[in-house]
Amino acid sequence: MGAPIRPTVYVETYGCQMNASDSEIILGALSARGYDPVNGPEGADVILVNTCAIRDHAEQRVFGRLGELRRHMTRDTILGVTGCMAQRLGPELLARASHVSLVVGPDGYRALPSLIDRARGGARSVATTFDATEHYEDFRPRRLAGVKAWIPVQRGCDYRCTYCIVPTTRGPERSRPLEDVVREVAQAVADGLTEVVLLGQTVNSYDDGHHDFADLVRAVGAVAGIRRLRFTSPHPNDFSDRVLDALATTPAVCEHVHLPMQSGSTRTLRRMLRRYTREEYLACVDRLRLAIPGVALTTDVIVGFPGETDADFAETLSAVESIGFEDAYTFKFSLRAGTPAERFPATDTVADTDMSARLATLIATVRRGARARNFALLGTYHEVLVEKPAKRGEAVQARTRDFKTVLLPPDEAEVGRYYMVRLVGTTGSTFTGTVVTDRDARGTRALPMASIPLAAAG
Ligand code: SAH
Ligand code: SF4
Ligand code: F3S
Repeated sequence: MGAPIRPTVYVETYGCQMNASDSEIILGALSARGYDPVNGPEGADVILVNTCAIRDHAEQRVFGRLGELRRHMTRDTILGVTGCMAQRLGPELLARASHVSLVVGPDGYRALPSLIDRARGGARSVATTFDATEHYEDFRPRRLAGVKAWIPVQRGCDYRCTYCIVPTTRGPERSRPLEDVVREVAQAVADGLTEVVLLGQTVNSYDDGHHDFADLVRAVGAVAGIRRLRFTSPHPNDFSDRVLDALATTPAVCEHVHLPMQSGSTRTLRRMLRRYTREEYLACVDRLRLAIPGVALTTDVIVGFPGETDADFAETLSAVESIGFEDAYTFKFSLRAGTPAERFPATDTVADTDMSARLATLIATVRRGARARNFALLGTYHEVLVEKPAKRGEAVQARTRDFKTVLLPPDEAEVGRYYMVRLVGTTGSTFTGTVVTDRDARGTRALPMASIPLAAAG
């Protein structure tokens, strides 16, 4: 007999970075049990689809994909569904897709190897019990994000935004002990990564019982070798003075904050139960700009929330224009079963054609503002970290600290290294640049952009 053949596993990921991070945990757990990760479903012994339930469209895509995956399966292939849709639908998923044998929610991944073994014997199982203590502390993630490490610091969500399914799919909020986060960050640095992204649904409400998010930012920022520290997504209400002070005084904290706004209308924000007004959101933006000079802001916006009028939407547009977001993820409202938004009367429903029109206007408004600011940046200098080969053509893709995408000639820059670049072209949203100096020898802190003399633009 030859050496036993290692079974292969393919994980396909949908949804947010939290899900992407969970896929790394799943792959780490299965690699430790003797599985070899592969990059496609063809011939894989185990196929896992790690799903998102945030909008109906996301779920429909997964159902379509499950149908397609049938083609890649033999009689022995195990197909499992994990993540938020698994948690939301549970046994209904088994009923709707007869070729699926595993349905495992976000707190159930510890049991995956044994559930897969049982599936080999023909069992079909559902594991969707929440475990408020589960942080997969003993699992070593298999990192897929290239030059950066996603570090989950909090699971679940205790807000109850009326449109949102996440509290149902991810359960109550809980934070990982600070020491465990710091240990994982130190390990990531030892593995050669210099950028970390702290993850949580409302990451700045982090509270492990002894430490708040300010403590966490300082502790992670103090890990030797960390050059870039990011976090996503914060909630506007959880930026205490302590947190802002930690952001202001921790050099690794990057000049970019993704700050979901959802709407610029206080009336709509109330109905969404976002717990802040338009004015409070604008004040949060001002405080962030004081704490982190030059901070770039991106956001999430929903259009067509029940009862949103033209006047409400106009307030969203004016907020977007006055704040000047560098980018926005924009969504049409999608009614999720079991969310409080179901209780709004049918007469509040915004017609799909109106939603589409608002979405188009919103996207055009965001782009127009970003485009004007981006053209004004031509000729300026920025520190970038090269992330990966670019999708199209002969280039590598790099990012500034403030999250702008810069394409560089591949013979000038290597993935995983830092460079000082000059921005020489822009599409209005992304840039092309040329390398000015190699910054790897410069120590851990880039100069704040404001202190670098800017060449005359143009
Ligand atoms: N925890 C994050 C958001 C996670 S969901 C936060 O509070 O900021 C990511 C985004 O999806 C949300 O910010 C929201 O803009 C959008 N979203 C959530 N539920 C939605 C729904 N039912 N319909 C449309 N968009 C939704
Ligand atoms: Fe959803 Fe609101 Fe929690 Fe974000 S804060 S995950 S939008 S309930
Ligand atoms: Fe989707 Fe779940 Fe993230 S619903 S957005 S994958 S938390």
